[in-house]
Amino acid sequence: MNIVLIGFMGSGKTTIGKELALQKGFKLIDTDEMIEKEQNISIKEIFSSKGEAYFRELEKQAIQKLQALDNHIVSVGGGAVMYHNNLDVLKGIGITVFLDAPIEKILENLKGKFRPLVGDTIEEEKLKELLRSRYSTYKKADVTIHTANLSIQQTVNEIIKALSL
Ligand code: S3P
Repeated sequence: MNIVLIGFMGSGKTTIGKELALQKGFKLIDTDEMIEKEQNISIKEIFSSKGEAYFRELEKQAIQKLQALDNHIVSVGGGAVMYHNNLDVLKGIGITVFLDAPIEKILENLKGKFRPLVGDTIEEEKLKELLRSRYSTYKKADVTIHTANLSIQQTVNEIIKALSL
């Protein structure tokens, strides 16, 4: 059995994924990391040298490769579910869990961090608009966890409870 964490950048997929994997004996895999290792180049450089469409193709291929996995927590980049048939493929790989973080928490988490689609300086409106445009797709996950007032451990506990792990 696999668990697939989806949600906006800065919603805590990597952090929560690590903790959940540690506490429940899953292995962890992250599509952004897979792509960086395979290409031997950072996501930032892929976006700047080859463009977003090229990245989305690599992301699709990385997701296809996950189909043979078992006992993994899979964390996918925030945009993955918006492209190709990735959401359907991910649903076939495991139970999809949407980490639904409020924009305030997302902004806090992204502070000082670079993301290709946002850049160095975060434009709040741009980010809100992107989240808005993706929200209904995220909600198609099997399970939604509202992380607004939850600590990392509390979020992990909620996933454990929701999935009866
Ligand atoms: C993206 C999110 C990033 C990364 C890429 C594009 C997006 O992953 O895949 O920069 O479209 O939201 P995180 O969600 O891990 O930040």
